[in-house]
Amino acid sequence: MTLTSTPAWQKLKTHSEALRGASAFTPADIARLDDFSLSLNGLHLNYACQNATQETVDLLLELAAQQQVEENRTRMFAGDKINTTENRAALHTALRRGDNTPLLVDGLDIMPDIRATQTRIAAFVDDVRGGAWRGATGKTFKHIVNIGIGGSDLGPRLASQALIDYVEGVTMHFVANADAFDIDSVLAKCDPAQTLFVVVSKTFSTQETLMNARTARQWLTDALGVDAVAKHFVAVSANRDAVEAFGIHADNIFPMWDWVGGRYSLWSAVGLSVALAIGNENFRALWNGAAAMDAHFQSAPLHQNMPVMLALLAVWNRNFLDAPALAILSYCERLRDFPRFLQQLEMESNGKSVTRDGAALDYETGPILFGECGTVGQHSFHQWLHQGTTPIACDFIGVSEDDRHKPEHHRALLSNMVAQMGALAFGQKQAASPHDIYAGHRSSNLILLDRLDPYHLGLLLALYEHKTFVQGVIWGINSFDQPGVELGKRMAKGLEANSVSAGENGDFLSHLLQKILPK
Ligand code: F6P
Repeated sequence: MTLTSTPAWQKLKTHSEALRGASAFTPADIARLDDFSLSLNGLHLNYACQNATQETVDLLLELAAQQQVEENRTRMFAGDKINTTENRAALHTALRRGDNTPLLVDGLDIMPDIRATQTRIAAFVDDVRGGAWRGATGKTFKHIVNIGIGGSDLGPRLASQALIDYVEGVTMHFVANADAFDIDSVLAKCDPAQTLFVVVSKTFSTQETLMNARTARQWLTDALGVDAVAKHFVAVSANRDAVEAFGIHADNIFPMWDWVGGRYSLWSAVGLSVALAIGNENFRALWNGAAAMDAHFQSAPLHQNMPVMLALLAVWNRNFLDAPALAILSYCERLRDFPRFLQQLEMESNGKSVTRDGAALDYETGPILFGECGTVGQHSFHQWLHQGTTPIACDFIGVSEDDRHKPEHHRALLSNMVAQMGALAFGQKQAASPHDIYAGHRSSNLILLDRLDPYHLGLLLALYEHKTFVQGVIWGINSFDQPGVELGKRMAKGLEANSVSAGENGDFLSHLLQKILPK
């Protein structure tokens, strides 16, 4: 039986017909603001502006039960190999656990390894920040350069940006792209004697990362000699041999494990750059926020479970209101990269077209995620959001606290966010000109943080990790592999080596490449 022929799905389909093109609520329904709201330790989800009724919620909860969300949740936390194509567990949650209860992967308790690595990270961070670990010329480090891409970049980059107020003593830099401008523009800002490179790559085979690391190493050795690498390069990887072959000393390698997916890895040594920037205490607060969301996700009844409700409402908009996209609108400049982070988290996890067992799907899975900061986006694509022919859903992210102590700015920021939610929900059904009609009933969530600190950022990121997981469970897909990135990598390697076989469009592509390369 395919998902679309199951009882819960069929009921939702019928229910959605009644709601399509209509408003589930009116401005008079003030009670919804309390009824459709969940909170956890200063993180709030308000879904009162969703084009949904209590009946919708009840039917979505039936779908969650039918798809065994709770059973699959238990399996993930227990270390079952739910990443079926790679035969791996998905245990990013183990990285932020507070207790040492044994957790077995392939018969081995992974907690001692996690704790040993965390101890090494903390000691290294204290040494660098305290000056015990210095550069080859004896100077302390003022520049931390994270070299990595995807999950080895986006999480650390987002966290360092969001927590900029907690960064002290160093300047953070991130290099990800193959485009030489990226590494050139960073190195131009750095002093070799005071620059520490953190090369992050789970596989240590990612072309862009290795190329950037080689360029960085050449820049350093040109300035300070080959012996300087031992003091100015550390690595984070699951592939020790490849790291040592690159020339980074074994003592400078921080491990990560195959049971942590790249896009779920900020909590591992992948977060080393962040810890170097904000210090161990603040990095632990990030973990603690995520751990609190884990505990909530594991224990809260489904109708009071924030990740579950966020996921179910996303499925409602995607599969029953036919929204092809989800806009992430952070009304907080320090969260401007949140859409980029979520694009990898959600689209690399749920951009799939077969079930875990490889069966074809007859329903949509992961939507397009995009976004911009508020209020900036209002002067960019919000026209499309309000009057375009394709209604989509929006997640508004806001921060209550005015930590800049500029009430005029803060009130304007939050007033604009609420106004956008209202205009999307209620529209403007009457107007002298048809150009001024707004259809309305366009769903949105409000995710509100009491303040933007490490703990609340940890809550927010774990909320979306678990939302992503629950959506994958509902859709019956594997949210922890990424086979779709391999073909392009293979073709690029072939083109670079000028050895693309005709069987893979080689002649066409090599001709195209020849046409565009500089003569
Ligand atoms: O995009 C594919 C991917 O494998 C991501 O899943 C991963 O985060 C990124 O490339 C970088 O991989 P690595 O950390 O192995 O360099």
